[in-house]
Amino acid sequence: MPIRVLPEQLIHQIAAGEVVERPASVVKELVENSLDADARRIEVEVEAGGVALCRVRDDGAGIARDELELALAHHATSKLARIEDLESVRSLGFRGEALPSIASVSRLSITSRTRQAPHAASISAEGAQLGEVRPAARAQGTTVAVSDLYFNTPARRKFLRTDATEFGHCDEVFRRIALAQPRVAFLLKHNGRVSHVLRSQDVAQRTGALLGEGFFSNSLSVDAQSGALRLHGRAGTPQAQGGQYFFVNNRFVRDRLLSHAVREAYRDLLHGERQPAYLLGLELDPRAVDVNVHPAKTEVRFRDSRAVHQFVYHALHRALSPSAATTPEKSLPGTCGKWISAEYWPARIFQSAALTLAAWISTTTSPAAGTGSGKSPYWRTSGPPKARKKEAFMGAMIASGISWPRRSPRPSKSGPPIRR
Ligand SMILES: Nc1ncnc2c1ncn2[C@@H]1O[C@H](COP(=O)(O)OP(=O)(O)OP(=O)(O)O)[C@@H](O)[C@H]1O
Ligand SMILES: [Mg+2]
Repeated sequence: MPIRVLPEQLIHQIAAGEVVERPASVVKELVENSLDADARRIEVEVEAGGVALCRVRDDGAGIARDELELALAHHATSKLARIEDLESVRSLGFRGEALPSIASVSRLSITSRTRQAPHAASISAEGAQLGEVRPAARAQGTTVAVSDLYFNTPARRKFLRTDATEFGHCDEVFRRIALAQPRVAFLLKHNGRVSHVLRSQDVAQRTGALLGEGFFSNSLSVDAQSGALRLHGRAGTPQAQGGQYFFVNNRFVRDRLLSHAVREAYRDLLHGERQPAYLLGLELDPRAVDVNVHPAKTEVRFRDSRAVHQFVYHALHRALSPSAATTPEKSLPGTCGKWISAEYWPARIFQSAALTLAAWISTTTSPAAGTGSGKSPYWRTSGPPKARKKEAFMGAMIASGISWPRRSPRPSKSGPPIRR
């Protein structure tokens, strides 16, 4: 076949595959746009797993009537103007590609009104064929409705899973964003049924609402700062359940370097057997991180990846060390190289001994397959006996606030995935 230049529409449909992997990607891009527009309330409605409809309404800044067409043009954005802006970008979006990409594989409409506008205006697009801008009715903010996703790319549609699975992905994307933005009120509906109603709240309330009160009570607070780096959030103890959420400057990311630092910090507690549960946010100067490395913007690259790895590892390890559970003001050197909190230390020794004994008995007497009593907040009752005993001991130490000297991270077989 001879080489030929593809028609523009086909180019965009191919490129859209990277941005719009499935309906959940539409939810992500639209909600991120609402957050970038400083919305305080965002409503997401999904039908048939998001394939029939994804509609996002916000009360943000809105789009001016004469910019509606531009919002659907490729490489058109209000978020940066020069290459230097990209280095310090704080907004979630910056490429000016999401709306046109979504429009090229769906039927899309935008209705929007800015604060100054006397009324709203609306525009529709079908497979990137733009309609006229018309007057419309709505209060300040924007509504973007995306229907019949992949109606013009049937090959793509075949890769979609059941509605329930696709909605599951939408729900997960929604949770990630809502966890990072507790001050913003959110609503999620699927096929007319409300899945989440979240009012504007603090981090603890939002975490409890989305990950369950169990996660909050079974997790330790993390808040550490070193220069321009700050790590905050909650680190789950061994029995916490709630998933793994890591945000970099409020953007949910999957990053091998960060996962490695977290795994290393948890090594003493979970000895690599299980996945930890955590909700952590890393804040750093936007110039120290490149967010423009993945089409869906879910990966990042750090300028000084080694420093970030060390900081995250140490901050988390410290938070997970048993003394962090009580943050004693003073410490006394104890026997066997342990440090015992000065405050009520005889009581702590007694408590630790009692807990360790109880944990030991529980792990010895509970069935190996492990339903066990399942009552302890500090140790598990399933898994290999050796691991259960070690964990029971560590849990008892955490419970009583006794720590052991910190170790440097053991080099793992592969070593940290430092990128340059
Ligand atoms: N909900 C919204 N409220 C206000 N303005 C919006 C909204 N959604 C989109 N816009 C405007 O439309 C422009 C294009 O949006 P689009 O999502 O395509 O690109 P982007 O957000 O700039 O970058 P990216 O492709 O990385 O998401 C935005 O830059 C913004 O000015
Ligand atoms: Mg965007």
